Amino acid sequence: MSSETMSIFSPRLAARFDALVAKYPVKRSALVPMLLYAQDEIGYLSDAVIAEVAERIGITELDVRNVATYYSMLRFKPAGKYNIQVCTNISCMLRGGYDILDRFQKELGVGHKGITSDGVFSLEEVECIGACCWAPAIQVNYDFHDELKPELVPGILEGYRAKAGFPGDGSTSLGRKAEGKAPHA
Ligand code: FES
Repeated sequence: MSSETMSIFSPRLAARFDALVAKYPVKRSALVPMLLYAQDEIGYLSDAVIAEVAERIGITELDVRNVATYYSMLRFKPAGKYNIQVCTNISCMLRGGYDILDRFQKELGVGHKGITSDGVFSLEEVECIGACCWAPAIQVNYDFHDELKPELVPGILEGYRAKAGFPGDGSTSLGRKAEGKAPHA
């Protein structure tokens, strides 16, 4: 499939995919980045996304699903504008990861895989997100927040509500990405 063929993706993304699959000796190597880009544009990995990515790479839809289900950052249902992933893997668990998860659940009124009624937030409990040195950690879309305490949760949510256009009291707490801190295990 080329960018001229009927695609569910924008012309820009379709062209990006054409370039990606041509870049690797084995087309399949482009699969995970393609799924991430597709999710960023469509919001989740719908059946149509999986079908088109499979066709572009020349593998089966089952092959795509087998890879996609391995990665917690890839999702098969729509998420909120800000998808909050709370790590409760070993380092985070030992440093209060479940207290962080509980606080998010209480503040948002949703559980694992839930979406708030205004569509601003979705919440999920995930395995290691590669920020163990600064546990407990969460990821909100592409932002990392680490060395968290439950009492910091309301401020984090307020910061994203403000970004989404919902007024708060101004006390925001944005991610460490802005401070140049990269995640690692
Ligand atoms: S265990 Fe939580 S970031 Fe690694």
